[in-house]
Amino acid sequence: MTGTIILPETRERSALYAALMPQLRALIQAEPDPVATMANVSAVLMEAFGWHWIGFYRVVGKELVLGPFQGPLACTRIPFGKGVCGMAWKEGRTLLVPDVNAFPGHIACSALSRSEIVVPIHGRLGEVVAVLDIDSADLNDFTEQDGHQLEVLCKLLEPLFA
Ligand code: SME
Repeated sequence: MTGTIILPETRERSALYAALMPQLRALIQAEPDPVATMANVSAVLMEAFGWHWIGFYRVVGKELVLGPFQGPLACTRIPFGKGVCGMAWKEGRTLLVPDVNAFPGHIACSALSRSEIVVPIHGRLGEVVAVLDIDSADLNDFTEQDGHQLEVLCKLLEPLFA
């Protein structure tokens, strides 16, 4: 799929999500390859929200391995249960961390990250197959709204891993 993403001229997140979701849905449905789609999804989220780091880690054996992302250099492997990503994998649920320095075991890939959200992507049997990880340079940047919208997005990605 080619084309551009059309965004409203606002920083208001609910308006951005409302405009983005149908476009993300179309993009995801147009390409069955998970790596290609994760790459474009990270690019679109970066264009829309400009967070510090946006990307995916895939479950490979007993570790999460870095996948497509936008932003600075990142850790390539995260063990099960470690850091925010490994914990979201272990618990199989979205983790919203308002202050990364207050999260025991947080893995600091970048000193600029202040808050973080990690949303798991589930496979056919309910197992976690990947996570979407987003870091913000602002403290307390993520709300339940982000959690909900990003969970909807990650659900759209699930068929690519089935
Ligand atoms: N902070 C994450 C590691 C990944 S980076 O943020 C890109 C964690 O604690 O799992």
